[in-house]
Amino acid sequence: MSFDQELRPRQPRKLIITGGAGFIGSNFVHHWCQQYPGDRVVVLDALTYAGNRKNLEDLEGRANFRFVAGDICDRALIDRLLKEEGIDTIAHFAAESHVDRSILGPGEFVRTNVVGTFTLLEAFRHHWIENGRPNDYRFHHVSTDEVYGSLEPDDPAFSETTSYAPNSPYSASKAGSDHLVRAYHHTYGLPTLITNCSNNYGPYHFPEKLIPLMGINILLGKPLPVYGDGQNIRDWLYVGDHCSALDVVLHKGTAGETYNIGGNNEVKNIDLVHKLCELMNELAPDLPVRPAQNLITFVKDRPGHDRRYAIDATKIRTELGWSPSVTVDQGLQRTVEWFLSHQDWWQPLLSKEYQEYYRKVYA
Ligand code: NAD
Ligand code: TYD
Repeated sequence: MSFDQELRPRQPRKLIITGGAGFIGSNFVHHWCQQYPGDRVVVLDALTYAGNRKNLEDLEGRANFRFVAGDICDRALIDRLLKEEGIDTIAHFAAESHVDRSILGPGEFVRTNVVGTFTLLEAFRHHWIENGRPNDYRFHHVSTDEVYGSLEPDDPAFSETTSYAPNSPYSASKAGSDHLVRAYHHTYGLPTLITNCSNNYGPYHFPEKLIPLMGINILLGKPLPVYGDGQNIRDWLYVGDHCSALDVVLHKGTAGETYNIGGNNEVKNIDLVHKLCELMNELAPDLPVRPAQNLITFVKDRPGHDRRYAIDATKIRTELGWSPSVTVDQGLQRTVEWFLSHQDWWQPLLSKEYQEYYRKVYA
């Protein structure tokens, strides 16, 4: 960023945030509304099983905030919103996001993640052209490190130049959408940004994912299903740190570039589950089974289970000055405290649909 730009006051922006009722999206909406109250924020979310309007209830009725229940594959709706709201930025989180569900039914992943992203890109491209191709418009595509595939123990971490090698229907559909975004910049000059982030955790995390699933099962005295030998490694990032990274990329990132985001917190699944058990033993007064470690159960492995993910975040650190602020121990403590004090948030999510899903995955 030039000296001149640094001195210029920030112009208010008008954003569509897709998937803003989901886990990371809702954390990002809160972050943005708090940091930039003068910006217009329009959340577009289809409210699938993973979307929850409760995640945004404190923002309802607030000036500059609008919630639209709708599908990112609905071109007419997107065209209308872009125009009537005078949108200059799309922050695109909406997706089918869970690997185990993508193994059970990949079709919805192709529809939302590939066709939905394509629909948004086409609508935004036309809107951008109609408005004279402003170079401060942004299409920010929020993606995952899973597009890079699986690492062996001694492999270097994923960088922005690592070849794509997605292994699950989820990561393949995200890779497809990343390629479309890249092509829209390369071919049409659309001002895009892509971020590929490691595993997030924190408030509003849907119970199907490892950390909330284990935390809730500990509270319910249910078995803790560790896939395979539990030696798979993930690079954990507290969701608030992901939001601050996305903010920095949106403000300072170069259009057309990709940035990797990671926590520098590689942990084996089994070690993470032990950490969670220890925290729960310490913080939860009435556990049905104590110590919680007695609930750990090794179950059959996930088909095609990636062994290790790790992010090299040198580019975002050196070029944009971002680094994570929360260690995995601090983040886990915050997360456990949040889940303990928000039982009314997660209890209703253990619905009939969720129980059916659970039976299929852990059969
Ligand atoms: P999530 O499953 O919690 O939320 C997804 C949201 O998208 C939900 O609110 C859902 O209702 C909405 N949605 C789904 N299909 C839609 C459609 N067709 N139209 C409109 N809205 C729709 O997901 P998340 O974990 O918050 O992930 C958000 C994004 O971040 C995804 O693109 C994901 O690939 C990416 N990501 C996630 C992680 C992670 O650890 N969770 C890590 C890196 C990147
Ligand atoms: P998950 O939270 O589903 O994220 P991702 O598959 O996108 O990395 O899973 C994180 C890790 O935890 C992954 O290695 C799979 C493993 N896992 C289990 O061992 N048991 C479970 O019940 C779940 C949901 C995940």
